[in-house]
Amino acid sequence: MVDQSGYGKSGKKGPSGRSYRNATGLTRQPKKMRGRKVSSQRWLTRQLNDPFVAQAKARGFRSRAALKLEQIDDRYQLLQSGMAIVDLGCAPGGWLQVSSIRTKLGASRARLVGIDLLETEGIVGANIFVGDMTNCNMLEKVRSAIGGAANGVLSDMAADTTGHRATDHLRTTALLEAALDFALDILNPNGFFLAKCFRGGAEKSLLDIMQRNFKMVRHVKPAASRLESVESYVLASGFHGRGCAEDIAVDIAVGRRDASGALII
Ligand SMILES: C[S@@+](CC[C@H](N)C(=O)[O-])C[C@H]1O[C@@H](n2cnc3c(N)ncnc32)[C@H](O)[C@@H]1O
Repeated sequence: MVDQSGYGKSGKKGPSGRSYRNATGLTRQPKKMRGRKVSSQRWLTRQLNDPFVAQAKARGFRSRAALKLEQIDDRYQLLQSGMAIVDLGCAPGGWLQVSSIRTKLGASRARLVGIDLLETEGIVGANIFVGDMTNCNMLEKVRSAIGGAANGVLSDMAADTTGHRATDHLRTTALLEAALDFALDILNPNGFFLAKCFRGGAEKSLLDIMQRNFKMVRHVKPAASRLESVESYVLASGFHGRGCAEDIAVDIAVGRRDASGALII
């Protein structure tokens, strides 16, 4: 017998199944709950009731995340025909799909490169690398794939969550820092950087670096990013360009960069 009462074997009211659906007003429920952890029951229930999941599926997107990029781009018009875009943490490929459409990949000079630890199904005309974006050879691989600098660096990278808030926060911040470092190394003057961060925004030290290197820095939370999620995005646009020698000298002096000018993470 499957216990879907939400009260569990002990007879005490638990947080799963019906009680979760009632509390959240979610009306559709997964057919098979047997053997699933409470967290996965909740995830499935949320997925089934989420209009953005349905919309992403109906439009052939590989991920619900695709809609987040679309919404941010609708508002800020970042992705333009012919641009060179790098997508860090690209699997399963939703952001690649949106980027390829909006840059008119294949019908313009556009170039698109994705990197992920996991395999990503191909996108016609895009270069996708499997590996850790923090590997030192990744920057050169991407540079040669796009033939130089990029107009935009996207990062929807997320580390596996542990459930321990401080640890998860540190991991997400480390990925944001690595993505920013990558962007500063590969962006064209006037390029943009869009990356996932935690609610409460990016760390002050990272914001300082962004503010010094870009004209405009803002936090964005698209409608498709769940309100209850700690996820948010930081958008930095109008890159001043590399070789901002004074900034680099300041960073080296305060220990933010090593003597070679590389950001210390
Ligand atoms: C939320 S998913 C990205 C979803 C993607 N934007 C889409 O629309 O399909 C986050 C991805 O970041 C990747 N990731 C995490 N750390 C990474 C790293 N150091 N290097 C490359 N990819 C990484 C994960 O493997 C995962 O696939």
